[in-house]
Order: sequence, then structure tokens, then C-alpha cells
Amino acid sequence: MSSATSSVARVAYLASDIIVDSQPTLPSTSQFAKEYSSLSATSSRRPTILSVPLGGDPGSTLLRNGSAAGLISFTSSAAAQTVIRLVLDAAELSSFPLVLHLAVKNDLSDVLLLHSAVPFFLISRTPQQAHDNSLLASRLARTEKKAVVHAFYDAKNDSVEEISESEVQPFLLSEKLASTNGVNGHNGANGHNGHSATVVSPSLELFKLYERAALSTVVRIRRACPPLSVHGSSEPHTVIFGLGDIPPVDIDGVSVVSLSLLTPLLPSRILDVIPPSASRIIILEQLHRWNTKWTPLYLELVDAIHQREVEQRPHIQSVYFSDPAQVIPLAILKLLQAAPSSAPIQLGSASASSLLSPEVPHIPKHESSYTKILSHVFGERLEVSNSPALVLKQGAIATSPEFALGRVRGQLDQRNELIRSVQKLLEVKEVSPELHKLCSQWVLVKDDDTKSRSVGNDLITALESSKSSSPIIDRILALRAHFPTRSRWIIGSDAWSYDLGASGLHHAIASGLNINILIIDTLPYTSRNSADPHRRKQDAGLYAMNHGDIYVASVAVYSSHNGPSVVLAYLPYQNEDAPALEVLKETKLAVDAGYWPLYRWDPVKEAQGKEPFALDSDAVKNDLQQFLDRQNHLSQLVRSKPELATELVSSLGENVKEARRRKAQQAYDDLVVSLDAPPLVVLYASDGGTAEKFAKRLANRGKARGLSTSIGTIDSMSIDTLSQEEYVAFVTSVAGQGEPPQNGRTLFKALNAAALRGEKPFSKLRYSVFALGDSHYWPRAEDAHYYNKPGKDLDTRLEQLGGERFADIGLGDDQDADGPDTGYKVWEPLVWKTFGVDNIEVKEAEPDPITNEHIKAASGYLRGTIAEGLEDNSTGALDPSDTQLTKFHGIYQQDDRDIRDERQAQGVEPAYSFMIRVRTPGGVCTSEQWLQMDRIADEHGNGTFKITTRATFQFHGVIKRHLKPSIQEINKVLLDTLAACGDVNRNVICSAIPSSSRLHAQVYNFSKLVSAHLLPRTTAYHEIWLDKKMVAGEAVKDFEPLYGEFYLPRKFKIAVAVPPTNDVDIFANDLGFIAIVNEQGDLAGFNVTIGGGMGVAHGNKKTYPRVADVIGFCTIEQGPIVAEKVMLTQRDNGNRADRKNARLKYTIDRMGLDVFKAEVESRLGYPLAPARPYTFDRNIDDFGWSTGDDGRHHVMLFIENGRIQDEPERDFKTGLREIAKIHKGTFRLTANQHIMISEISTEDVPEIKRILAKYKLDNLNYTGLRLSSSACVAFPTCGLAMAESERYLPVLIDKVEKICEENGLRNDSIVMRMTGCPNGCARPYVAEVAFVGKAPGSYSMLLGGGYYGQRLNKIYRETVSEPEILAILKPMIKRYALERIEGEHFGDFVIRAGYIAPTTSGKEWYDNMGGEGQYREAAAAA
Ligand SMILES: Cc1cc2nc3c(=O)[nH]c(=O)nc-3n(C[C@H](O)[C@H](O)[C@H](O)COP(=O)(O)O)c2cc1C
Ligand code: SF4
Repeated sequence: MSSATSSVARVAYLASDIIVDSQPTLPSTSQFAKEYSSLSATSSRRPTILSVPLGGDPGSTLLRNGSAAGLISFTSSAAAQTVIRLVLDAAELSSFPLVLHLAVKNDLSDVLLLHSAVPFFLISRTPQQAHDNSLLASRLARTEKKAVVHAFYDAKNDSVEEISESEVQPFLLSEKLASTNGVNGHNGANGHNGHSATVVSPSLELFKLYERAALSTVVRIRRACPPLSVHGSSEPHTVIFGLGDIPPVDIDGVSVVSLSLLTPLLPSRILDVIPPSASRIIILEQLHRWNTKWTPLYLELVDAIHQREVEQRPHIQSVYFSDPAQVIPLAILKLLQAAPSSAPIQLGSASASSLLSPEVPHIPKHESSYTKILSHVFGERLEVSNSPALVLKQGAIATSPEFALGRVRGQLDQRNELIRSVQKLLEVKEVSPELHKLCSQWVLVKDDDTKSRSVGNDLITALESSKSSSPIIDRILALRAHFPTRSRWIIGSDAWSYDLGASGLHHAIASGLNINILIIDTLPYTSRNSADPHRRKQDAGLYAMNHGDIYVASVAVYSSHNGPSVVLAYLPYQNEDAPALEVLKETKLAVDAGYWPLYRWDPVKEAQGKEPFALDSDAVKNDLQQFLDRQNHLSQLVRSKPELATELVSSLGENVKEARRRKAQQAYDDLVVSLDAPPLVVLYASDGGTAEKFAKRLANRGKARGLSTSIGTIDSMSIDTLSQEEYVAFVTSVAGQGEPPQNGRTLFKALNAAALRGEKPFSKLRYSVFALGDSHYWPRAEDAHYYNKPGKDLDTRLEQLGGERFADIGLGDDQDADGPDTGYKVWEPLVWKTFGVDNIEVKEAEPDPITNEHIKAASGYLRGTIAEGLEDNSTGALDPSDTQLTKFHGIYQQDDRDIRDERQAQGVEPAYSFMIRVRTPGGVCTSEQWLQMDRIADEHGNGTFKITTRATFQFHGVIKRHLKPSIQEINKVLLDTLAACGDVNRNVICSAIPSSSRLHAQVYNFSKLVSAHLLPRTTAYHEIWLDKKMVAGEAVKDFEPLYGEFYLPRKFKIAVAVPPTNDVDIFANDLGFIAIVNEQGDLAGFNVTIGGGMGVAHGNKKTYPRVADVIGFCTIEQGPIVAEKVMLTQRDNGNRADRKNARLKYTIDRMGLDVFKAEVESRLGYPLAPARPYTFDRNIDDFGWSTGDDGRHHVMLFIENGRIQDEPERDFKTGLREIAKIHKGTFRLTANQHIMISEISTEDVPEIKRILAKYKLDNLNYTGLRLSSSACVAFPTCGLAMAESERYLPVLIDKVEKICEENGLRNDSIVMRMTGCPNGCARPYVAEVAFVGKAPGSYSMLLGGGYYGQRLNKIYRETVSEPEILAILKPMIKRYALERIEGEHFGDFVIRAGYIAPTTSGKEWYDNMGGEGQYREAAAAA
């Protein structure tokens, strides 16, 4: 025996990746949830299960999570509240792989609202049908990526033949069967005989998809599941179309059609079951509360019948029933005997139908205490706008906040009309003096609580008895109900607090209407931790306060605020029988503990300059405390009402200490200003920001010493303007080989030219230079002159041009103990001495420089001023601090560095554009998504895109105006860019493994799960890019449960690898999961690795790469939580003061691996199990064709450095687009920047092969070296690039592979990588040989990495150019060919041969740099 609900829940559980389950009001739990919990004990599947409360917004939860799922299911009762919310999002949800399983109880009125909102609507009456249709719906949604509604009767006690667990996933993923030969048994569409030009209607298309899924289902379960089934007479005079729980009807001459598919319902199908003998059709539907005259089924039937000749059209009768007991043969016979009626008729007695009229919702006993208080305070004026009593007339929707808000708006509009009408009447001459007096009296008192009613009543009496009649008087009398003022309330439960931004509550708050909201929170204090964590509430009070102008009270009923107000009432009880004493006890506990603080926030007081916040209890919970601490209320208010700013800030209540401090400061300022010092100009040139930082420090300190100081870049001055200055301090660094930084180059050139001409313009100028550089950047003796060259040159040049040095040049060296600080400390006092202010003691703390940490915290959860910046047409750039924030949204601001100089010479801003990085967890995308990416690159980017080393898409050259449309189009195919960059967890990557589709599905799902689990929760992304509703005015109480407002100290990368392939370079990631497979070939769990990381800074020995350590084993279920805890341990312990030292690798080395691991385990609450054995043997991709264990085929293509573009003879972009147009499987992007076209069915292989050959995409005729290479983007778009990479590595390989070929190594794989800077995006530090850019044409060369990414390499030469690279590699490769041991890889050989020392840990990376051979001396000299 099984119930329909348990069958549906089982299929949903076994078929879905994500389930969203609608929960009834606490403390009850949904029937489905109970099933899921028992299934989790017996099943090996672990779908993610999310809950939404009744009254919450399931649509937004589905939209948020659906895009990441292979299949998402929603399970719920078909309650009106739920269905209505789904209707709102139905259009967007329609293209999700989504099944909405809705349990119906004897009424289809609500669920039918979804009938035309989604592509498919199935209905099941028996538990067996519910089971079969659940399978069909899941298959249909999964394969066609379309939403399916599955409404089913919640019937019990029927035996159900269920599909076995192991069959479900193969069934969902099995090949699509060809649909039957056309619909309706005809050949071709719509019964026509297959002309290719036939236009196929959308319904027919959908129907074909349905048929295909139904066919697959029948093949699997061996039971028919027809869309319509017919019983009874074969030559009927009457056909009954039944929809609902209809008992068998057995009457002569009557046939009964039961529907299983309601949408799409083809007219041809309907006509098929109405034989010519039928003269009458009865549509019998189980509806209690259908509001419009005709039902969807009735309209479909009328439509179908109209395709017949007029004389062949049977009469159609619509009949409703409510109780199946009413569908008795006698009642049907009566119907048949009665004359056909054109209006719908009700089956059964009126009393039976009234039984089923909607019930007035029951108000729990305790809650009525609040409503009683309200009626006591407001008496007749009280109007509960969503009163349960309205349900009788309006249906269940009447209790929703949206309904109430609409009602209030309507009433306020009518009252305004009344006021206008009374005012108009005052202008009518014929009105009697008495009536005139009453009218004017009422207008004066219309806002008075009591007088508006009494004067209004007098006025009504006078109007009624008035002899004169006019349309105005009639209208006033029609609106008489609005004479008295009302106190309008919306009362609701804390269910509204779960999704505030999307709820009707938000609209009420933002409406500005005079409306009060009472939210009753019933969760007892003692149960607060047992509440479902997924159902975590937002604080409605804080939410409202953040809006700035809402009156908020926590347990108090207050009436004088003219505008929205929110009252939060605490009424804790487990059930209605809880004794009052228990309720009191819980309340006291909550208030004393600060869990439920009593407070009032009155923005009216604020406008009067008084403190708006009053706390009525002693303790305050954390959130509120933080709100007050930060005085967020002030800043928010200032932002929304700038005119209040001054008053507010001055009314802050200065205390005496503060006043004294200011006075002292003033006295000090007066003193120093009286100094008669000349003005100081500070000019800087800086590429990376260090020189700028020192210049700003100098200027600030100058100001603090009372000097009149100004600051700018060196290029902001011309020779003319500079010659007018008296005292100038220059600060410059070096960029490139002895080159000045970008923002100093123009003046440097002009100075050189003036010197050549022998001019002496600077007779007035006194100057000093502070130069920043790195004495080790170019380590060879012959390159020593590059050290601080621009600064030194400037110093001599200015003297040559007539300037007088006021202090000797200062030299800052990155290599000094404190870096450039060491030299600066010597130089700065010389400046103060010149001005005679060296003895002034500066007491004021210098303002902290603005760091990324400040930017994050002040950003309002990643909003900043991005939205405003996008609107600003005057520049192609965003504000500098916003460019830090857009990274979290997957967007980097860049400029075309190829044309930087040219643009500067033209005096225009750099050619700004943006890089957009998509988030594709596990690197998998569909053909539809591929096509969209292809389009976006053409329409918004530079026509190409890149597959990155984090297995995702990256667009370049997107200009500001195109940013938003690009993101919206990415979103249209259910992808996003959130957290693709920034100080958060980045795209989670996983192995491409073609060999096992089951294993791939498991690790891929795991990657998606981890990605979803660690995703930032801010709504800023949707708000800014997708124009989703603005939440709560200008300030939002967003909630970042994992990240908090500071997010992580630095980026965080996660990979999942499946041995023996390490194609994701697991050890280069902050966190890694190495899949451990059991004897059956199933995923058993993961070894956990932590602390890998690549980025370093040239010459900065505090930075180094590190390979990860294996710390233990976890199960699949534990995985996401292990990821969370490792990330949180890093969040709380990472170095936030120095971004160069902030990655997890440094945290681990600082804390010690054991301490870090212990901290993770203590957060987990259990130790990790010991690591299990595993073996890796490569980190490169497996190119070419392969067949998986499910018989489907895959082909890994070689895409050099992941660049997707059309080149002469290699139209890869077009070729891949052609494949995407016909490919039914997926694309897997790899972390080595290649593409696997996967899940190709055998019959599609020839066509795919044809296209591959046509576009030369199948060419794998490359050397082992090229196939194993990879390069990052670098020039022209990457702002950090110091040298070429993607554009240069192929050229270098052309030359190196010749050496390989000469030595018989054409097919030997050597992992060679290149990056344009030491950030290491292409993971160069684990390559066997690598090149890291230092300056155009110059690289450091590294050797000795492990072949499968297990060992770091080491710097072999600090600076090499191409001729040197070739000269080094030639003999080395030759020796390798001759001397290698069987199977020895190049990285191992260079160590054994003594070229380079092995690197055993990141911290020892700099030890024993350099190597053997003819270049030893150069290395030693360095
Ligand atoms: C690409 C590049 C080239 C450099 N070349 C030199 C150089 O030739 N001579 C030198 O003394 N320092 C050189 N440096 C070191 C920088 O000048 C030094 O790190 C400085 O502090 C950077 O300042 P900035 O951040 O203001 O640009 C170079 C740095 C980079 C990134
Ligand atoms: S390694 Fe450096 S140059 Fe290359 S893409 Fe990354 S940041 Fe840019």
C-alpha cells in the first residue's frame, strides 16, 4: 500500500538534483519532508532539499536554484497562496528543467490557474498514475528543459508498482526515443501528409515532446500512460470529459474521457475521442471556487469542436461538482434528460456545494489577543485589510499582503475621490447654507480620528434629506463609507520574513501609504535553534528601519505615524493549547536574552532632531546592536534625505570630551597655519600604486604640518606649469626595463627634449626626488643601471634644466628589509627640514588608506555605486572602488594596453572595456548555452571568447554600455557571473572524465552543490544587473551567512579531481576534493586537500607558490560542509592587512597545518577520516574520441590556450557553433582550456565527425609539447600583464618543438606553461617548464615541476629572452632524449640531471635557485 504523496515524493527524490519543498506553518512539517527524511536513510542519492514556508516566495527560490540543477522539483500542496506566487514567476520558470508536483484535495480551482502558464500540465487521479506521471514529468522536464506541472490527487491505500531506485537516473538520462510517426497516427504534422514546409504550431511541438517522453516512460514501466483515456460506449450519444476525482460512470450510450494531459491539448486529439455519433458533450470538472464563467477545458473543447462542420458540432455543457459522492449515475441521467443549458451547472445539491465553500481561516487563540488590542485601541476605526472574513467572498488570496495592499490603495483612492467630491459640492451655488457648512466642517476635520466620523454622519443625514439632487451628491453618498478615517492594518505571520525582498511586505513598506503592518512571530525562544536552518528568517524590523522612513515598533501598538509602520509582535507558542503562562515565560526569556528586544524607531522624531531610536528592554540582539553601533540609521537617512544630513549630524549629542578634542585641534591648526612656509607640490608616477601611496603619505603629512600641499601625477604638469612652481617633491617608480610608469611618461619625454634643446626653464624650481625600484628585478650585472633609473634620470635632468635640489634623491628598494620604507624614512625628514617644520610633532592620526577591506564593508553587500556608474556616460570606466566590487560580480575593468600610449598622446582616456567571466560549476554547459555565449561575444564583446583555466567562459572587450545587456543575456540561458572573481569562492572546477558518465554526474553534481553552497547571498547582483526589484529603498539588510560584510581576505579556489587524471591541478587550489571510488565504481567520498595556491610577486620573498596538503577523507554528504568550514577558518584567520599575504596557503603556513586542520575539525564537530590511497598519473587532457560506460561518446578537442575565434583556415568559432546547433549532449570545458563535446549518441557521431573535419577541429596532429601547453590571457587585455603570454607561447612552441622533433621527442608530453605576470593564472608553478613574464620579451624561467602537478618547480633563470630560452633548452632536451630512464618525465629528469634542485615545500621555493650548465655563472652572479 502506498499513498500518491509518498510515490511522488520518492520519484522527486530519486530524480532531482534539487528539491524545493513548501512547508506548512511551523511547527508542522510537510508530508513530503517526512518522506524525504525516511528516503535519506535508505537511498544513496542526496538531492539538495530546500524549504520555503507557506506564504513565502517559492518562485524566487526556484529561480535562484533552478539554473544550477539538472532537474529541480517543487513539492507542495496546491494551496491558493502557493499557486498564485508560482503564476507570477511562471514565465521565467517555463524554461527551467522543473517539475511542480502539487497535491490536490478535492478541488482543482487553484491549480488550474497554472494551466496556461507552463508548457506542460499533467494530472493524476490514482497513486499509480501519480507515480507514472511523476516519472514522465521528470523525464520531460529534464530532457526538454521545460517546466511541467504535475497535479495529483492526494489519494491513499492503493498498491503502487514502483520503479526501482537504480533505474531512475538511467531512465532520465537515457536516449530520447523518436516520437511516434507524427501525431495522431497521421504522417506529418496536423494530419497533413508531411510537406516539409508545413508550419508546426507551438502546441504541436510541445505535444511531440510530451509524446516522446511518454513513449520512453511506457518502455520503462510497461504501463500505458495515454494523455486521454476513454471508457464506456463505443458509439456514444454523449461524451463526458472528466477532470477530477470522478468515480466510474457506467451508463448506456455514454463514454467517459479521463484526461491525464491538460496542456498541451491538441484539438485533433480531442476530436479523435468524440465519435460522429455523439450529439452532446459534458465537461465534468471538480471545481468549487472557479471564478470566471468558463474553464480552460471548456474553452479548449469549444475550440476543437469549431473545427467541425456546423451541423456536426455536438452541444457542449459545462458542469461543476465538488464532492465525488455527487457523481452518481442518477445525477448524470438527470443531466442527460435536462435540456442543454448555455450556462455552467452545478452537480448535486446546493447544500453539498456550500459545504465546500472556502472556510474562513481559523485565527489561533493566542493571536487573537493582538487583534483584540487593536480593536480596543482603534475601535470602529480598525480595518484589517486582509481580514480572514474576506476569504468567503474573495478566496484564500484575500489573506495575502499583496491583496491587502491593493485593497488599501483602492480605498485610499476612493477616499480621495470623496474629498474631491465634497470640495466640488462646496463650489455649487445651489447648495443650502447648512449643507455648505457641514461640507466645509468635514473637509477641515477629515483627518481627525473621531470628528471625521461624527461630522461625516451629520453630513450624510443632511445629504439624504436634501431636496436637491445632483450627480455629485449621488457620488458622495455612494462613497459614504469613507467619511471616517481608518486605521488600516495588514496582519500576518512571520512567514513573510523569509523572503522579505520579494514579498508583498516589501511593497507595503515601500508604498509610502498610511498603512500599518503587524507581524506576529510565534517561534518560541527555546525552539529558536531547532528551526530549520533553510528557513532562516530575515529581521523584518531591521529591514524596515533600513528603509529610513518607516515607523517600527517591536511589541507596541502605536498610532500616530502618518506613513507605513511595521509592528513586530512576539507571541511564542508551540500549539494552540499552550497555557498562557508558558507563552509569558517564553516571552520573558526572549526579551531578557535580547532575542526579542523591545524598541521603537520613529523617523518623525528624527526629522525633529530628536533621537529616533528608543530601546525599551535591556538586552539587544547582535544584528540590532550592529545596526546601532555602525549608526547605520544615520548614514542611511542621510543618503535618502541629504537635506537632513547637517541637522542630523549636529544633533548627535556631542559629549564634552569630543568638544575638547576639537578645540585643541583647532588651536593646533591655527598655530601651524601661521607658519610662513611656501606651498609644497607632490607629483608622482606609479603603475602598481606603491609610488602613489608614498606620494599621498607625503602630502598628508605635509598638510598635518601646516604646509599648503597639493598632489597630482607627474603627467598632470607641463614644463610651463612646472616652471611656475617653487617647491616640488617627485615620487616615481620603475615599470618595464628602466621605463618610467605610464602616468609620468609624457613629462619625462618633454624634459628630455627640453634638455636636448639646451633650455633652462626651471630657474625658480626647487625639487627633490624619491625613487622606488627593485635592485634585483633585473639581476644580471649588466642590467644594474635599470635600478631606479627614471628617478635617477629625473633628478639629473631637473638640475640640467635649471632646477635646484632642496634635498638629495631618496632611493626605495623592494629588496630592503622594509621594502621602499627603509629609504623613505631617511628621505622624508629632509623634506620637513627644508620647510622648517621638522620639529612639529604630528598628533593627529593619519587617515587610513582606503583598502579593499574598507571598500567591501562600505559597499552595502557589493552594491557600492556600480548602478550609478553604469548610468554615467561621460566615461567608459567605473569608479575605482566599484571596480574592486564588480570583481565579485564576475566583471573586471581593463583597458586595451596595445593602444595606451597612443590614446594618452591624443589626450583621451584609456580604451576602457570589461572582462566578463561566467560561472559554470564543473565546467559543463548545454548547446543552447554555448550558442548564447557565441552570440554574446559577437554582439557585446570583441568577437572571440576564451575558455579559462577555471573551466569557464571569459569575454573581453565589453564596453560599459554593453555590460548589463551581456549579463542579462547570460542569465537568459540560466548562467550567471556571480562570484566568478573577487574575494569569494570562485568557479568550482571538476575533472572532465569521459570514461564514466555516472561518476562524472556524481562529481559534477557535487561541484554544483559546493558552488551553490558557497555562493554569496547578496541580492545586489540581481538588483544591479537583472533589474530585479529594488529591495527596501536605498539600503538593504542583506544577509551573507557565510561571508559577512567583509567577505574573504582573498580569492578562494576549489577543484574536484578524479584519479588517475589530475586535469584540474588539484594541488594548485586552496581546497581540493580527490574522488575516491569504491569497488563498484561509485563515488565513495573524497580525500581533502588544502593550501594550494599559485600567485607570487616578483622579488618579494614573502610570497611563494605552494602545493596543497592532503588532510583526510570525507564522505560526499560531508563535502559541502567541509568546504564551508575550511573557507570559514580562512575567513577568520586570513591576513586582511596585506593582500599579498592573504591566501589560504599563507594562513596555513602561519598557523601550522595541524592547527589549521584541528580548527576545521572543531568547526565540523568531528575529525576527518584518514586519507585513502589514490594515484594520479597526468594533469593534461585526454584528447580525441572515447566511449563512456553508458555507450555515449565524447571527443576532447585541442583549442590552443582556450581561445575561441575564427582564424584563416581554422574557423573554430563557427565550427563549434555548427556543432552546438545539432548537438544534444553537453560541452565540458576543461581547466586546461580545452573543450570536450560530450554525451554524443552513436547515431550522431558521423555528423559531429563531419563538422569537426570540415572546420579542422579534429586536428590532433600536434606535438606532445603543444598538447601539454597552456598560457594565460596577458596582453592586450589583462591589466596586470607584464609580458605577452597567450599570443606568444604558440610562437615559442613552434621553435621549441623543432628541438623536440630533432631529438625524436615529437610525441612526448612535456608540460610547458606561460603567464604574463607572476599571478600565475595558468598555474605555471606546477609545470615541468614554465615562463613567467617580467617585462615585454623577458621572463623568469622555471624548471622541475611534477608531471601530474604534484611538485612545484623552481626559478632556474630570473630573466630570459627568447634566444636564451632556446639556447638553454636545446642541450637540455637533447640530454633528456638520450639519458632519460624509461618513463621518466622531463620535470623529474632536470632534477636528476642536476639542472635544478627539487622544491619540497612552498616556503623553500627560493632556496637553491639557478642550476647547472653554462648559465650557472649568470645565476650565481644574480
Ligand atoms: C614590470 C616591472 C618592471 C620593473 N622594472 C624595474 C626596473 O627596471 N628597475 C627597478 O628598479 N625596478 C623595477 N621594477 C620594480 C618596481 O619599480 C617596484 O616594485 C616599485 O615599487 C613599483 O611601484 P609602483 O607600484 O608604484 O609601480 C619593476 C616592476 C615591474 C612590475
Ligand atoms: S597570470 Fe597575470 S598576466 Fe596572466 S592573466 Fe593572470 S593576471 Fe593576467
